[in-house]
Amino acid sequence: MTETAESRSARPLAVVILAAGAGTRMRSDRPKVLHQIAGLSMLGHVIGAARALAPARLVVVTGHGAEAVGAEARASAGDVALTVCHQAEQRGTGHAVLAAAPGLDGFEGDVLVLYGDTPLLRSETLARLVAAEGALRVLGFETNAPAGYGRLVIGAEGLERIVEANDATPEEQAITACNSGVMAADAGVLLGLLAKVEPANAQGEYYLTDTVALARAQGMAVSAVMGSEAEMQGVNDRVQLAAAETIWQAGAREAAMRAGATMRDPASVFLAHDTTIGRDVEIGPNTVFGPGVVLEDGARVEAFCHLEQCRIGSGASVGPFARLRGGAVVGSDCRIGNFVEAKNTIFAPGAKAAHLSYVGDAEIGAGANLGAGTITCNYDGFTKHRTEIGAGAFIGTNTALIAPITVGPGAYVATGSVLTEDVPGDALALARTRQVTKPGRAARLRALLSARKKGA
Ligand code: UD1
Ligand code: CA
Repeated sequence: MTETAESRSARPLAVVILAAGAGTRMRSDRPKVLHQIAGLSMLGHVIGAARALAPARLVVVTGHGAEAVGAEARASAGDVALTVCHQAEQRGTGHAVLAAAPGLDGFEGDVLVLYGDTPLLRSETLARLVAAEGALRVLGFETNAPAGYGRLVIGAEGLERIVEANDATPEEQAITACNSGVMAADAGVLLGLLAKVEPANAQGEYYLTDTVALARAQGMAVSAVMGSEAEMQGVNDRVQLAAAETIWQAGAREAAMRAGATMRDPASVFLAHDTTIGRDVEIGPNTVFGPGVVLEDGARVEAFCHLEQCRIGSGASVGPFARLRGGAVVGSDCRIGNFVEAKNTIFAPGAKAAHLSYVGDAEIGAGANLGAGTITCNYDGFTKHRTEIGAGAFIGTNTALIAPITVGPGAYVATGSVLTEDVPGDALALARTRQVTKPGRAARLRALLSARKKGA
């Protein structure tokens, strides 16, 4: 009886992610799969794609930097049943899948093998591979730059074998059909084939890719499912890391624009893996989003802003040249202007800090106005202190608020004040020395100084 694609895709699925390699070509102290794309580790991206398939099990194979890689796997796995298996010695991708066997104990169903260094794969593509025909299914792609990838040797009867770049003859190196590294097969079939793999190759490694020729030799149906090159970008060095980032950013910008955001120069907008962008949001050029940013419908981010872990409300406008850090919440219709930095601060709707301010550990009431150069002095070198400014308060320019401090609603603080005490609501506070003006004294002073200079 031949299985249909539907019956197969309904089978239980286990995803195995290989993440033990040293990543030598990265020349890094950090394990390769923990290098980031759009502010999330490559492993995090791969686990995200795997989770979208709702697998019954997830197995991550660790080796180099096992502790950190295992921790990242646990942080990313959510509610999927995760086993972290250790591959003490990295003897190849086939060896690595065998190291995952304890995590597959008692499992019956399909196994999908992913590499932790192939971060752009979309879950739709993975689902297509899982549902494809064939005992062994390989995800491949066509490219003009096949260097470094395993090549798919496709004959009259389909995929015959995969030859690694290091083992390929010049003719085989000319092949442009490449292996993404992703493979799907019945768990028992795959482990059975892997038991027969020998390290008879240039690198002396147990290649997962050798299972293809072994399966064919046993008369099994093997298929290659082709996908887009951009999705299959493997990352072995920092140049490929940058290439993967570029591809990811292009996809994310396009998705944001298709969902109703305007970007005047999309190529200079750098998004994070979790940036949330509402409808009719406008994003200016040269803007950088760290993780955790939410832009509500109709928010505007002007040019040269740097935002992370913050929320911009509907109709609010930020920048140009604003920096919003962790815990900054900008309410609807607020205006945060140039050279304003805010951290751990809530701006209630309609509040304004239009120029040159630092606002940290603060709560700014609705419609309050912070003049140019308003600084919350929130840190005494040991502890952070809070500043509270009530609704409708007016803080004159160049005011320093020495926290902890409260300025009541509707209060008015004179320009140039250094506030050390709370100001009640609707009070006027002047915390500066009174001006002294002496008529004619400038001319006398000049004469005096000039005479002194001549005499010297
Ligand atoms: C591999 C494939 C190649 C494919 C390419 C796609 C093999 C033999 N080659 O080559 O056909 O075109 O990926 O990007 O499979 N790993 C372990 N343990 C090991 C060895 C590797 O966990 O012992 C992990 C690595 O951490 C990495 C992944 O497996 O995440 C791939 O290993 P890598 O050495 O990068 O393989 P490639 O040479 O890129
Ligand atoms: Ca690789």
